[in-house]
Amino acid sequence: MSGYKFSREPVVVPLVNTNNRVIKTSIPAPGTRESLEEIEKFESRSMQGQMPIVWDSAENFNLKDKHGNKWIDFTSTIFVSNVGHANKAVCDAAKSIIDKPLLHTYAYLNEERISYHKKLIAFAGHPFEKAFLMSAGTEATEAALKLMRLNAKKENKRSPGIICLEGNWHGRTMGAQMMSGNVAQKAWIGYHDPNIYHIKFPYPWEVEENKGAEFLDVELAKLEKIGIDISQDICGFMLESFQGWGAIFYPIDFVQSVEKTCRRYQILLTFDEMQSGFARTGRKFGYEHYGVTPDLLCCGKGISSGFPLSAVIGRREVMDLPDVGNMSSTHSANPLACAVGSATLDEIERLDLVTETERKGRILFEKLNKIKSTYPEKISLVLGHGLLAAIHFKTREGGPDHLFPSTVCERAMQSGLLLVHTGRESIKIGPPLTITDEALVEGLDVLADIITELHNCTTAQLHNCTTA
Ligand SMILES: Cc1ncc(COP(=O)(O)O)c(C=O)c1O
Repeated sequence: MSGYKFSREPVVVPLVNTNNRVIKTSIPAPGTRESLEEIEKFESRSMQGQMPIVWDSAENFNLKDKHGNKWIDFTSTIFVSNVGHANKAVCDAAKSIIDKPLLHTYAYLNEERISYHKKLIAFAGHPFEKAFLMSAGTEATEAALKLMRLNAKKENKRSPGIICLEGNWHGRTMGAQMMSGNVAQKAWIGYHDPNIYHIKFPYPWEVEENKGAEFLDVELAKLEKIGIDISQDICGFMLESFQGWGAIFYPIDFVQSVEKTCRRYQILLTFDEMQSGFARTGRKFGYEHYGVTPDLLCCGKGISSGFPLSAVIGRREVMDLPDVGNMSSTHSANPLACAVGSATLDEIERLDLVTETERKGRILFEKLNKIKSTYPEKISLVLGHGLLAAIHFKTREGGPDHLFPSTVCERAMQSGLLLVHTGRESIKIGPPLTITDEALVEGLDVLADIITELHNCTTAQLHNCTTA
């Protein structure tokens, strides 16, 4: 999160009333400041810093507060509500389990756990054969770390090294932070696991599309230079399917070369599919953009439409590396989570969301590229796939602009549009995959108008334009 602070003072903003957006009060709405002050008394500040809206309900691609203000949601609560907020089939599935009643079974068996595993494996397709369920995404990346390291033992490796990428992100627990590339965020740990290595990320502004394999060779040679034997000292390769903050995908030949290296040296290839899974990018999973076959997928977020559920999915021989009972967790395979997970998969198929997302993605990127070509001095890149995009902003001098995108997010909130505030030089866009074409276009028009309004502002003007 950046140092940007959203104004808590109610600002009188133009009223909005369309089919998809309603703004009928000052923004933040009356009482919001008091609510923020109240929560701050009782909740760690580490959970805070988001845009000042008190959500009261959310349905399909809209969220509402109790005053009747209504926003188009371009966040899907960070890529969770892929099948739409409060999807009816998902809610019905949850109700059916509550009405049974069957809230929890620990590691004892329940029918929902059987049918959900079958369905999840069928959805993931070849070569995936087994899954292990947990509650949070960070647990899934931790579990993958464990599986990759158990692979080192199985393959008689000299040491259990994992290769990760600078700038990637895998969660907030210790192993996940060790694998993440954000140095400042993991300073609290106080030491670095000597068997976790970070190579550079092949950013498109540094590496041409077909030079990814060469780039990987250079990075692996750097590891070899410090005494690491890739065949003996590496058991796992951890890739976020795209680098999150900027929707930055890798050059295809980079990932294909990673896969070749993994196959050559019995290294497990893991994709962190937290943001990219469950149809978000116009494929079932993000790895499909690269023409490779991973050994492990770490899933969360869109897996269950808002209920705590995450998963690691892999081949039988990898998933069965831990001994019987060795990876259980109190809330693993909770019947409620399994039932909503099943309903989510059914909805992705019933609504043909993979195809639909690819189609709507074409509308999204056509509009975003048009905005970019109108303001080439302000926008350096538009990246992403399907209904997952990032706009990268630059200053007049050409460096990353952090203030402008934050200001755009705040102005959008005042206009009935919720964007993903990254705190960096990007804005991310990820509406529920069920959004109508009309609402998608309307949201993008709002975004374009705000960029038009603000693109010439000085820093001082940007600081002032969102306040009363
Ligand atoms: C790529 C990626 N990996 C892991 C995580 C961690 O997931 P969770 O917050 O559910 O622990 C996230 C969450 O934002 C993520 O985006």
